[in-house]
Amino acid sequence: MIDLNTKLGNRLSLSNPILTASGTFGYGDEISDIVDVELYGGIVTKSLTLKPREGNPPPRIVETPSGMINSIGLANIGVDLFLEEKADFLKIYRGQVIINIAGRTDSEYCEILKRLTEENWIDGFEINVSCPNVSEGGIEFGTDPKILSNLARKLRDLTDKFLMIKLSPNVTDIRILAETSQKCGADAVSMINTVYGSAIDINTKKPLINSVIGGLSGPAIKPIAIANIIKSYRVIDIPIIGIGGISRGEDVIEFMLAGASAVQLGTVHFYNPLAINEILQFLEKYCSQNNILSIGDIIGKVEI
Ligand code: FUM
Repeated sequence: MIDLNTKLGNRLSLSNPILTASGTFGYGDEISDIVDVELYGGIVTKSLTLKPREGNPPPRIVETPSGMINSIGLANIGVDLFLEEKADFLKIYRGQVIINIAGRTDSEYCEILKRLTEENWIDGFEINVSCPNVSEGGIEFGTDPKILSNLARKLRDLTDKFLMIKLSPNVTDIRILAETSQKCGADAVSMINTVYGSAIDINTKKPLINSVIGGLSGPAIKPIAIANIIKSYRVIDIPIIGIGGISRGEDVIEFMLAGASAVQLGTVHFYNPLAINEILQFLEKYCSQNNILSIGDIIGKVEI
């Protein structure tokens, strides 16, 4: 038996290193008649804001070669409805429940965290400071180390639960934001959120996405994610959760060799929602063929 258990610092342990990526799996219940949600180490929910948000006008998703551009604009049901409608499902879920939080202001992030940290079925938080698709909040919290540090310290003071900061690749040097997150007491960082992207219909000459520019995800961004993880792993001691175009077991191994302690599956859910089955089988096979007893043994083991 291969040990797939994954410890993310002192506050969170996963039964395997595979999480869902925010925004690609709803709140878990929507997809539970198609996918066995218990196969994941945990669920990361769609970003929650204090009040419900309609998000950006359509078209807000477009397919591109090897990827997808989205500009959803943080559409979500808000904290009150989330607690009313989604808690029952997540309370009986056996994996870890991580709530992704977004806000327009420091106080909105803090207010949401204060409310949710009281709920004993919630295991941790992913702080979205990297959404490229909103005019207020989102990425502006994740590009300036001073702004990030101000927010992260306030959030750390409000919860003893697992706190992870989701970072953007749309910065000059992601390492500075990763180091800032660590200094402010974050338990982990997740990277990368989407890469700015656009696409144009050559017949209408119009952008294919209403907001013109959105966030590119999927296999197209995998090498960008790997590079950012390799760089960050060398400067921080807290775990890195890898995100960016993971669709196969081989990708998970590659992310872990680069320095990820766990990963999130995102865009793959749109075209192969059962990928988790194949990925777990592959991890078992790869480890047994390579005499690896515990998957954690490969973290950061890329030979450079
Ligand atoms: O537009 C969106 O809701 C995307 C969010 C994100 O990339 O964090």
